[in-house]
Parts: sequence; C-alpha cells; structure tokens
Amino acid sequence: MIKSSRRVFTRWITGVFAALWTGMASYPFFRYLISGTQKKQAGAELVTSISMGKVDDFIPGSAKNFKFGSAPALLVRSEEGEFYAYNAICTHLGCTVQYSDEKKKIWCACHGGVYDTVSGKNLAGPPPKPLKALSVEVNEGEIIVSRA
Ligand code: FES
Repeated sequence: MIKSSRRVFTRWITGVFAALWTGMASYPFFRYLISGTQKKQAGAELVTSISMGKVDDFIPGSAKNFKFGSAPALLVRSEEGEFYAYNAICTHLGCTVQYSDEKKKIWCACHGGVYDTVSGKNLAGPPPKPLKALSVEVNEGEIIVSRA
C-alpha cells in the first residue's frame, strides 16, 4: 500500500513539474510571437503628434532619428530647407533607416536600400515600397510631426 501511494505521488509530482517546466519554457516564445509587432504598432498608434523642437535647431541637409511612440521615425531637413518625416522602418525587412549626409538620401544599412528624401520613394536596393510618410508642420518656429 505504501509503495503504491509513493509511486502515485512520484508520478503526480513529476507530472506537475513537467507541466510547469513546459509552461516556463514556452512562455517567452509565445509572448514574443504575440506581442512583438502588436506592441510596436500599439505604441505608435497612441501618439498622434510630437514636437521636434525649433526650426533653427536643424540646418538644411540634416536629419534626426527619433521615436514616434515606440516606432522609429526620421525627420529630414532638405538642402532647400523643407521638412519631411517618415516612419523609419525599412520596407524590405524592417531595419531602421537613416539619413546619409554623403548620399543626401535616406538609406538602410542592412542591405543598401535607398529612399528619396523628399518623397520617401524607394530608389535603389531591395526595398519594395516607399517609406510611410508622417506629416510635418511648422507652427511659430516649432516643428510638429504628426500622423499623416
Ligand atoms: S532591411 Fe533595409 S534594405 Fe533590407
């Protein structure tokens, strides 16, 4: 009788530990699958506009990477002095794009994708689509970037 109950208890406790171990081992995987993209989009969805500071803080032909919510974004001041802003997620495989002073274009360091500064259009490399544009407005010398 004692042997039998010990065996039952051993099986029961082994089953409990196996279930706990499986849960702990698989939790990060499922969490990653479910939340990664949704979190990025949710953070970006909450923000509708952001102040980027004063016009004079940006010389023509310069740019600044920033976060629009939790999503990477890029503000560019063209050589002509106009402002443009984009979602800075490369349309190829999702790397963060940046402005190249040398090329005077937006580029992706991952695979050499190139985008037009003024239109965000994909010009060279593997990106299949243009960058998603954000709206830029200058209000009393302050740059406001908002969802287009
Ligand atoms: S991820 Fe940008 S070019 Fe491939």
